[in-house]
Amino acid sequence: MRRVYLDYNATTPLDPEVWEAMRPYWMEEFGNASSIHAYGQRAKAALEVAREQVAELLRARPDEIVFTSGGTESDNAAIFGAVEAARPRTPSGAKHVITTAIEHHAVLHAVKALEARGVEVSLVPVGQTGVVDPDDVELAIRPETVLISVMHANNELGTLQPVQEVGRRARARGILFHSDAVQTAGKAPVDVEALGVDLLSLSAHKFYGPKGVGALYIRRGTRLHPLLYGGHHERDRRPGTEPVPGIVGLGKAAEIAARRLQDEAAEVERLRDRLEAGILQRVPGAAVNGDPARRLPSTSNLRFEDVDGEGLVIALDLKGVACSTGAACSSGSLEPSHVLAAIGLKRQEARSSVRFSLGRFTTAEDVDYALEVIPAAVERLRSLSPHSARSATGDRVSPLSSSGQVAASGRPPSGR
Ligand SMILES: Cc1ncc(COP(=O)(O)O)c(C=O)c1O
Repeated sequence: MRRVYLDYNATTPLDPEVWEAMRPYWMEEFGNASSIHAYGQRAKAALEVAREQVAELLRARPDEIVFTSGGTESDNAAIFGAVEAARPRTPSGAKHVITTAIEHHAVLHAVKALEARGVEVSLVPVGQTGVVDPDDVELAIRPETVLISVMHANNELGTLQPVQEVGRRARARGILFHSDAVQTAGKAPVDVEALGVDLLSLSAHKFYGPKGVGALYIRRGTRLHPLLYGGHHERDRRPGTEPVPGIVGLGKAAEIAARRLQDEAAEVERLRDRLEAGILQRVPGAAVNGDPARRLPSTSNLRFEDVDGEGLVIALDLKGVACSTGAACSSGSLEPSHVLAAIGLKRQEARSSVRFSLGRFTTAEDVDYALEVIPAAVERLRSLSPHSARSATGDRVSPLSSSGQVAASGRPPSGR
């Protein structure tokens, strides 16, 4: 059976060039980068090359890059570190953080933990296309606001957020600004100067590097407390013996991405559009979630009327096509995705949604195979569903949700 991987937003395969670069550092070049002998010096030199490669990808300076264990740690380090280090801006001593309703849980659960420690949190809603309005972020600013965190692209919908516009406003008010760029770094242009960020998270496994390694960009002069305590690694920003093979892999992945980004994005977009148009044409009752124009070239999030998304993912897996639902399964109970809820989808619509995400190794043949099996799988699930009123020739639903839209303007609600 043919195997087609369409889940690049979840993780990507290692690029063979990355693997070749990492290889010596597992065996011959095993030194601890803190050791002063030749083994240590070579490991240290490899770390510094990787730091330059990551800095180059982000148009940052090498001393602004700190290696971490991945996107989750980078987000937590940015949020806890910035809020703890921030001096209260008002005599009350209160601290307030702004983020959006569609962030990854690495951000949402971090701010929730801060809330339990007495920090006030505002979650800015998004419109039905899944894009946050910078005016709404600005409206949420209070005298006590010490940090704003807005992701660069959403992992479920692929929607690109107006980070640059938010950055400009944050800077004008002297508020620290963090962006989770885990879905864009290495896949779309990320320029820390142009974006106006003080802190930015990325993760190697989202752009053909290894799992368990990432980086946090920290603008020079930014006050940040460390998340972990230990040795003096990473200029006292992040203790622990550096995983040299992983960091070398991250650096190589960044170097390849900087080289290929433009061409690769255009090709991935062409294939994504072909897949999406093919599905919309062949499957009645299919519609796009999010913003069809303002999104990552890789991502297509679709809902299929009268189909259980989880069931479709399983049916497609049996045919060799790997994709995912927007829904997260926690402790055995299937909760609809907070992102799809935030764009105003009804529970049923959210549960009928599936994300296809393409990448460097996706081919036209992969797309054609997916287009062969998806319509049949949807049709079969509908025929098995006792609730399905839809036949193969039924009406298409509108490209945007007919359900209520989450307010995109007005003062956002405080707290969670
Ligand atoms: C937007 C976003 N942020 C953070 C993460 C977490 O990254 P990591 O898997 O490296 O911890 C992910 C990964 O799913 C993500 O998509």
